[in-house]
Amino acid sequence: MLIPPPLSLYVHLPWCVRKCPYCDFNSHQGKGALPFEDYIDALIRDLDQDLPLVWGRTVHSVFFGGGTPSLFPPEAIDRFLQAAAARLRFAPGLEVTLETNPGTAEHGRFDRYLAAGVNRISFGIQSFDDGCLQRLGRIHDSREAEAAVKLAQDAGFDNFNLDLMYALPGQTLAMAEHDLERAFALQPAHVSHYQLTLEPNTIFFSRPPKGLPDDDHAWDMQAHCQALLAAAGFDHYEVSAYARPGRQCAHNLNYWRFGDYLGIGAGAHGKISLGADQSIQRRWKIKHPTRYLETAGTVEAIGGDESIAPAQRPFEYMLNTLRLREGFRLIDFSARTGLAADAIAMPLREAEAKGWLHLAADGQVIPTELGRRFTNDVIELFLA
Ligand SMILES: C[S@@+](CC[C@H](N)C(=O)[O-])C[C@H]1O[C@@H](n2cnc3c(N)ncnc32)[C@H](O)[C@@H]1O
Ligand code: SF4
Repeated sequence: MLIPPPLSLYVHLPWCVRKCPYCDFNSHQGKGALPFEDYIDALIRDLDQDLPLVWGRTVHSVFFGGGTPSLFPPEAIDRFLQAAAARLRFAPGLEVTLETNPGTAEHGRFDRYLAAGVNRISFGIQSFDDGCLQRLGRIHDSREAEAAVKLAQDAGFDNFNLDLMYALPGQTLAMAEHDLERAFALQPAHVSHYQLTLEPNTIFFSRPPKGLPDDDHAWDMQAHCQALLAAAGFDHYEVSAYARPGRQCAHNLNYWRFGDYLGIGAGAHGKISLGADQSIQRRWKIKHPTRYLETAGTVEAIGGDESIAPAQRPFEYMLNTLRLREGFRLIDFSARTGLAADAIAMPLREAEAKGWLHLAADGQVIPTELGRRFTNDVIELFLA
């Protein structure tokens, strides 16, 4: 029996000061004055159109992602949150995250984001080495990054994440470790630690930067950095996510547990379980901000719709939950896919035999140390 899981709201804000050469997100260099108010109107029309999908359900987290959401004035964020709260049932104390590029943090902004209802900030730091930042095409240096975090702390944000990347052009192991030490000094609640990947359709993909560490060095960096994060009290709860106790990102955890989410904004993706017809629907919005602005709230803004067929669900479920150290419970597998545990008995047995997954007596399926090293191979076993 498919039982609708917790619901989150993702809001995509697509503009940046400058496009970074490694980035394949739906982000666009803003030209001239950006249409913040028109975009908020478009988001509200978009939300109104999606409301029938989630009628009466409670929203457990909101995430403003980008792009660079911190380009939007706090008053615009406030207006959207008020409109959303008037249309959806917000859980008391729900997590509301705003992604922030440190190059856009000005004095006084964070107080107003906090007053608007934002209670978690995610900073795109990437590195504290000015040479690396330059090679990544970032618009800020390390001092500005530290100053931005301090401004947020002074405004009262204690729940914040720092995004760091490693295996950067010109980066040594000592530099990657030093990045973490500078991060720890700022006392983040959460660290996201990503290996730089060369994504198709980026400048780095067509012209790879000089001085990229080879696979062995990248592996070394990952292993040493993981050890440093553990020693500093961060729990490695997902492939790239590390949190202090109780500070996991509720929004991302909901994705990784195969929860539901509305996706509002240019290029945003949503996934909704419908109990009545036992279906799981995906819907995504058109990517280009200008077209989105013109059409939001009409069928033309819907980039596509699809139903996740039962045969695809085990793979999609594993693609998310096997990223987590905790893995998943068989009972949740059934509730969130609508399938009996029998549907995965064979691949589960195979993964156990290979030493990749451990099935505990209470029905919790946990990736082993080996399984965590070969996540993609484990997930592939569940392909239809
Ligand atoms: C959508 S960005 C949001 C943050 C904000 N736009 C910024 O860059 O300051 C989320 C994070 O994804 C990571 N990221 C983006 N492109 C990446 C890539 N090619 N490889 C690894 N991590 C990447 C970066 O750490 C980035 O902060
Ligand atoms: S600021 Fe963030 S979203 Fe924008 S281009 Fe750079 S990495 Fe991508």
